[in-house]
Amino acid sequence: MTQFHKTLSTWFQQNRRNLPWRKSNNPYFIWVSEIILQQTRIEQGIPWYFHFLERFPDIKTLAEASEEDVLLVWQGLGYYSRARNLHKAARQIMLQFNGKFPDSFDQIRKLKGVGDYTASAVASISFGLPHAVIDGNVYRVLSRIFGISTPIDTAAGKKEFSQLAASLLDREDPGPYNEAIMDFGALQCKPLNPICSDCPFETKCFALKNRQIENLPVKSKKAPQRNRFFNYLFIRYRDGFYLQKRAEKDIWKNLYQFPLIETDLDLDEKEVILSSRFLEIFKNRDPVIKSVAPKITHLLSHQKLFIRFINITLNEPVSEPGYVLIPIEEMTSFPFPKPLNNYLLKQLKKSI
Ligand code: ADE
Repeated sequence: MTQFHKTLSTWFQQNRRNLPWRKSNNPYFIWVSEIILQQTRIEQGIPWYFHFLERFPDIKTLAEASEEDVLLVWQGLGYYSRARNLHKAARQIMLQFNGKFPDSFDQIRKLKGVGDYTASAVASISFGLPHAVIDGNVYRVLSRIFGISTPIDTAAGKKEFSQLAASLLDREDPGPYNEAIMDFGALQCKPLNPICSDCPFETKCFALKNRQIENLPVKSKKAPQRNRFFNYLFIRYRDGFYLQKRAEKDIWKNLYQFPLIETDLDLDEKEVILSSRFLEIFKNRDPVIKSVAPKITHLLSHQKLFIRFINITLNEPVSEPGYVLIPIEEMTSFPFPKPLNNYLLKQLKKSI
């Protein structure tokens, strides 16, 4: 046992989080939890974990559901490709492995949406296989304690950290070791305000000794950000609203939305209403603008969305390719991106 592992393991015995997926080694449960936690904080992820498993308690139920059902259950959690991949992978497991979760690292790694991190987590936690996880927590903990300044988003950095992580791994009992280093990163060696004054690595930690806590880990580049301006037309005609399905290779694929006018420029509401696209949609149908909601911003990992909702009533229907008129009472049975669902629920409450 290395000194690092001894110290970590004592810390884990005293600080281990009692998380719902730690009650069993069922690979389906572990897999679902890891996918949910990829871009979601633990506290936020727990209710989603129960919500998902209540509807899809096993691989077979998930595989037999429609993609739209899966998206509906995932609605609000974001990063919908994770849900689509879970669904595809469940079908893969039914077809290729007779419904039994594969039990080798290479087979797990081949499942749709499963990368090195998820494969290592499931392989080690469910099957006791010696694979070290490397996530943001692990990069942070190792870079600080061992003083590694190679940027984590370069090939050299990835190689260096993965070699170090593999050399530190408890090969006899890799699951708890992996959970321990992630918990340590999440609770103690936090990105901001880590608890260095009461840390078992206090006397050993390179970053603490050298005042480098804020500078480690190093990233070579900032993720580029794209600004997009979404003007949603919430159009009422008789007892229904118009919807369209997002297709294209873009965010929110296969979710539903209100008719959208997207612009590259930050137009004000008058400019949108006078735009050629708006006029084309409504021609001479005299749309009545009921209200325009204040613009909201919605952050995705590489995009910043500026979203505006324009509430419109019509006395004549519009006919645009891809627009469908949906009766009010059916509106909540479609999966929407979170900001749209929030707006929709508010509007429906008002109209009751
Ligand atoms: N974050 C994501 N997966 C985790 C796990 N299995 N244990 C602790 N933190 C995590």
